[in-house]
Amino acid sequence: MAVTSTTWSPESWRAFTALQQPEWPDPAAAAAAVARLKTNPPLVFAGEARQLRDALAGVIAGRGFLLQAGDCVESFNELSTNRIREKLKIMLQMSAVLTYGATLPVVRVGRIAGQFTKPRSSPFERFGDLEVPSFRGHMVHGDARTVEARVPEPRRMVEGYNQSAATLNLLRAFTKGGYADLTQVHLWNQEFVASSPEGRRYERLADEIERALQFMAACGIDLSAERSLHEVDVFTSHEGLLLDYEEGLTRRDSLTGDWYDCSAHLLWIGERTRQLDGAHVEFFSGVHNPLGVKLGPTTTPDEVVGLCEALNPERVPGRLTLVARMGAERVEELLPPLLSAAAEGAHPVLWACDPMHANTIRTDGGIKTRRFDAVMHEIRGFFAACWSADVHPGGVHLEFTGEDVTECLGGADDVLEEQLSSRYETLCDPRLNARQSLDLAFRLAELMQHAPR
Ligand code: PEP
Ligand code: CO
Repeated sequence: MAVTSTTWSPESWRAFTALQQPEWPDPAAAAAAVARLKTNPPLVFAGEARQLRDALAGVIAGRGFLLQAGDCVESFNELSTNRIREKLKIMLQMSAVLTYGATLPVVRVGRIAGQFTKPRSSPFERFGDLEVPSFRGHMVHGDARTVEARVPEPRRMVEGYNQSAATLNLLRAFTKGGYADLTQVHLWNQEFVASSPEGRRYERLADEIERALQFMAACGIDLSAERSLHEVDVFTSHEGLLLDYEEGLTRRDSLTGDWYDCSAHLLWIGERTRQLDGAHVEFFSGVHNPLGVKLGPTTTPDEVVGLCEALNPERVPGRLTLVARMGAERVEELLPPLLSAAAEGAHPVLWACDPMHANTIRTDGGIKTRRFDAVMHEIRGFFAACWSADVHPGGVHLEFTGEDVTECLGGADDVLEEQLSSRYETLCDPRLNARQSLDLAFRLAELMQHAPR
């Protein structure tokens, strides 16, 4: 079991087994990088994390929907204004579709500004005859397919912090500085999206939103005074995997005296590191951020209750999001006992669906991909299981990009197997492209309209 709060400290995880950590060749350099992080300013503030927690509590109560999405892994080579803006655009488009289509407020959380590490099922990967240590993210080592590039370098944690700070700065400017203004709803439709069927569908929806705004203005409502029409909140999240980094950014909040991991608003524990007696559960039990935990197909009801007890013993609504990633074929069978276990323990849980990670396949040519249909299939199964259990299906957790890539198959604009290699750019898992993401948002909004009343 995780230790009690009397023995917790930002370092207490070090006495537990921490899976999926790099072996730094120079431990003194790793300690120096952690010490450096401890002197840096926090990336996010405790008050913001509490604001997100409260928004997530609203979702549990059925008054909202969580859209958590972004890259599988961010890259040190892609710190560009355009790319960040494109990611934001697709997130704004998707949330416009969901808010308008399902008339529910959307809580937006990016896998962004810190998603630089990856857990791996196998310690090695093979390229032809060459076997090299598996890629674990730019915060650990380089992605080149050589043994030398894969040597862990602790200074990368500081570089990851710097890139996260720059990304977050841009994100704050875009979301608060006019770009996310609802009057810009047409502008978020990128050219390569606008020409597709879902892009045209979006244009029609944007026209409707514009008319609705004009209608409200004609009724005498002062739209300029409505903050929520002119700026949005986009919160940050990443997998809290590399505990040296997370410890380095943990600060005591001056208002409440509580500890917060100030590397992101929300941190999640991955499927591979959610052991009840492991270092990750120990570390995150002591910080007050909203948390996520991924649950794969082997998860038992007892583990769900154990995670709820360890991470949210006070049963604070919004503290804990459980992200089921069961697979399209199995979600309706595997999820119900887990939903019941949390309900019987009176644990407030935001149930979300990751329809990506249990639906990864390889083509005959060996390319890692996902089928759009399987993704939708898992989402529908997840909604059906939640509705049967009288639980609000609270959100989706996606891997997407604002770019015109070809990494996942299908969607209304059908990406075919022979097209996959033309723009396959991900450093890790295949992502939905902007058109597929928009298509998904429309289908999701339709599904949500069928919620039992
Ligand atoms: C991920 O979200 O990129 C991931 C590795 O997920 P999981 O822990 O669910 O496998
Ligand atoms: Co992934």
